Amino acid sequence: MKKVRKAVIPVAGLGTRFLPATKAIPKEMLTIVDRPTIQYIVEEVVASGIQEVILITSEGKSAIENHFDYNYELDTILKEKKKHALQEELALTSSLIDVVSVRQKKPLGLGHAIWMARKVVGDEPFLVLLGDDLVRSQTPCCQQMIDLYEQVNESIVAIQRVPMDQTYQYGIVEGKKTNFDRTFKVEQMVEKPAQGTSPSDMAIIGRYLLMPDIFDALGNTAPGHGGEIQLTDALQFLAAQRGMYAYEFEGKRYDAGDKMGYLKAIIDIALEHPTLGEPLQKHLRSVCGCKNHT
Ligand code: UTP
Repeated sequence: MKKVRKAVIPVAGLGTRFLPATKAIPKEMLTIVDRPTIQYIVEEVVASGIQEVILITSEGKSAIENHFDYNYELDTILKEKKKHALQEELALTSSLIDVVSVRQKKPLGLGHAIWMARKVVGDEPFLVLLGDDLVRSQTPCCQQMIDLYEQVNESIVAIQRVPMDQTYQYGIVEGKKTNFDRTFKVEQMVEKPAQGTSPSDMAIIGRYLLMPDIFDALGNTAPGHGGEIQLTDALQFLAAQRGMYAYEFEGKRYDAGDKMGYLKAIIDIALEHPTLGEPLQKHLRSVCGCKNHT
C-alpha cells in the first residue's frame, strides 16, 4: 500500500460570494481571528504528517504563495526591532511545509483544478482539501481519513449530514454502512440534486483522499453541472470502477467561502482564544440582551 504524502489544495476559484472583498485579495487570505483561512488548512495537513502541498492557483493568488514563503525584509525589521516572538511565528509559517504551485489558467471547475495536479502528484494516493473549507477536530480530519485509508486502501470522501432541504447545495452520496466506524461504501453520487430529488442527506465536504486513477477519470469527464468539469462526475466513475468509501468525519466543518460559515468560524475560534475568548463572550451576551453580561 502506498503512503499518502501529498495534499492538493485548489485555490483558483473566483470567490464571487465574497465580492467586493475578494476583488484584489484571495478569499483564502481573509482573516479568521489572527490567521488567514488557508493557514488553518495547511496546519491540518501538517498535523496529519503530509510532506508536500500542491496549490492550484490562478492570477491574483500570489499572496497565498507569499504567505508561506520566507520574507527577508520583514524578518530583518522584526529582528532589529527585537520583536522576537513575531519573528519566530513568521519563521514557523514559512517553514511549515514544502509548497509547490500549479497554475489553472481558466476557472474550468474543481475537477479541472485537481486534474492540473496530475504531473506533480504522479502515481500515488493523495489528499484534496478545498481552500475555503475548515474542519476543526481533535484528530485532524485528514489524519482520520489516512487512518481509514490504511484499512481500506481505496478512495475516500469525507461527508457530513445536512438537512434535506439543503442537499441541493452539495455533492450527495448514497451508500451502505460498512463494518468500519462511520464508514459507508459509495453506491451512487450526484452533484447538487434538484430540490426533492436527493438520494440521501450525506453531503460531500472539502476533504478527499483519492487514488491516482482519478486523473484518468477527470481527463475523460465532460463539462457537467454549470458547464464546469465536476469532480463528483469523475468520483462517480471511480466509485463504479474500483470502489470508494464515504466517511462521516468527527469534528465541525465551516464553509469559510460563505459569509455565514466564515462568521461562525471567526466566532467559534475567537471564543476559544486565550485572551479574546472571555471579552468576546461578554460582548456577545450584551448584544443578545442576555443577563450577566458585565
Ligand atoms: P467554490 O465553489 O467555492 O468556487 O470552489 P469559488 O469560485 O472559489 O467561489 P464562489 O462560489 O465564486 O464564491 C470550491 C473550491 O474549488 C476551487 C476554489 O478555489 C475552492 O477552493 N476551484 C473552483 C478552483 O480551484 N478552480 C475552479 O475552476 C473552481
